[in-house]
Amino acid sequence: MTFKQTLIEQTKKIFQNRYDKNPEVISISPGRINIIGEHVDYNLGLSMPAAIDKYLCVAISKNKEQQINGYSQNLNDSFSNNYSLNNDSRHWVKYVHGSIIESLKKSNYSSGFDIVINSTIQMGKGISSSAALEVSILLSINKMFNLQMSNKDIIKRCQSVDHNHINIKSGILDQSACLLSKKDSIFIIDFYDMSIEYIDYNLKNVKWILIDSNIRRELASSKYHERVNECKQALEILSLQNKQISNFRDLNINKTKEISILPPKLQKRVIHVVSENDRVAKMKEAIKKQSTKKMGDLLIKSHESLRDNYEVSCIEIDRMINFSKSIKGWIGGRIMGGGFGGATINLIELGYENYFVDKLSIFYKKNFGLNCIAEDLSFVDGAETIYINSLN
Ligand code: GLA
Repeated sequence: MTFKQTLIEQTKKIFQNRYDKNPEVISISPGRINIIGEHVDYNLGLSMPAAIDKYLCVAISKNKEQQINGYSQNLNDSFSNNYSLNNDSRHWVKYVHGSIIESLKKSNYSSGFDIVINSTIQMGKGISSSAALEVSILLSINKMFNLQMSNKDIIKRCQSVDHNHINIKSGILDQSACLLSKKDSIFIIDFYDMSIEYIDYNLKNVKWILIDSNIRRELASSKYHERVNECKQALEILSLQNKQISNFRDLNINKTKEISILPPKLQKRVIHVVSENDRVAKMKEAIKKQSTKKMGDLLIKSHESLRDNYEVSCIEIDRMINFSKSIKGWIGGRIMGGGFGGATINLIELGYENYFVDKLSIFYKKNFGLNCIAEDLSFVDGAETIYINSLN
C-alpha cells in the first residue's frame, strides 16, 4: 500500500470510529511548492508550481442535524457548530466552515456534515496545508451534491474562503497547484487567463530540497496585503498615464521608461513583478534544455529580486542563501511563498543533498540558534476524490 493509500485508509477508520458510519466521500490533496513566479498570482503573472508528496485527507458525510461536526486528527481537536453560523475563532475551524459555506453558495443545498481531517502536510511550513484543506472540502462537496463545479470555479471558491472567512486577500497560486498538478510534471500557470502548460520534468542529475527556516513573522499577512495594495496603486498610476497599460503584462522588462513616473518604492515592486514573469518564461526554457546552471541562476536572481525589489525576505533567509553559495553541489535557491520567513527552495546536484543539508544546518544553528528542517521533494498528481457510499 502506498503512503497515500495508507493515509486514506487511516482517515476512513478514524471517521468510522468517531461517527459510527462510513464517510460518503474521501478527498485527498497534496501540498505544493513553487519553483519560481512569486507574488505574481494576484498580479496576473506567471508561476511554476508543483504538488509534492505530502497529503491532507478529508473524510466527510452529510448529517441530518444541520450541524457541522469536525475533527482534526493532527490537532486532536474538534468542533460542533451550526451550519449557518460560525463564531469560532480557531483558524482551522474557520477554514472548514468557510470551505463548506463557499462550496454550497449559489446552490439550493444546505446540510449538516461530519468531517475528519488527517494530514501529513505540516502546518505553517509554507507548503499550503490550508489550500489542501480548502481544495479537499470543495472537491468533496462538489462530488456529494453533484454540483458540477469546474476546476476554475473550485479554485475561485477556495480563494473566497481566504478572502471572506480568513481575511487574507491571497491569490490563487496555492489552490491551483494543489488541484491541477500532474505527476512528474511541473506546470506554468498564467493567471491572466488561467491557461496551463504542463512540462515533463525528468531531470535526473539534480534534486529539489526545501528548507524550513523556522522563522514565522507575526506581521506576514499585513505585509502581504501591503504588497498587494502597492501593486494595485502602481497599476492605477501607470494606466492613468498610459491607457495601453491595463496590467503588468503590458510592460516590458527592457523598457522601463514607463515606470519612471512611479515613486521609487512602487518602481521596485513593479520591477519585481515584470522581471519575475520573465524569469518564469526563461525557467521553462532552461528546464526543457536541462540547463541546470541556468535554472540555478534564475533562482538566485529571483531571490535577489524578492529581497531587494519586493522586500519580502528576511535576514535569516538572506544569510542562508548567501552561505549556500559556498556549499559544493548547491546550484541555486530562493525564498519561497509569501515570504517574511518560511521556506527556501534549493536545487542541488545529485549526490550532494546530505552534504548540503549538513553544512547549512551547522551554519544556521551557529548563527541563529535554530534548526533548519530539510525535505527532499518529488512531484505528484493533484487532488482527487473517492466516492465511497451514497446510502448512509
Ligand atoms: C502566498 C499566497 C499566494 C501567493 C504567494 C506568493 O502563498 O497564498 O497566493 O501570492 O504567497 O507567491
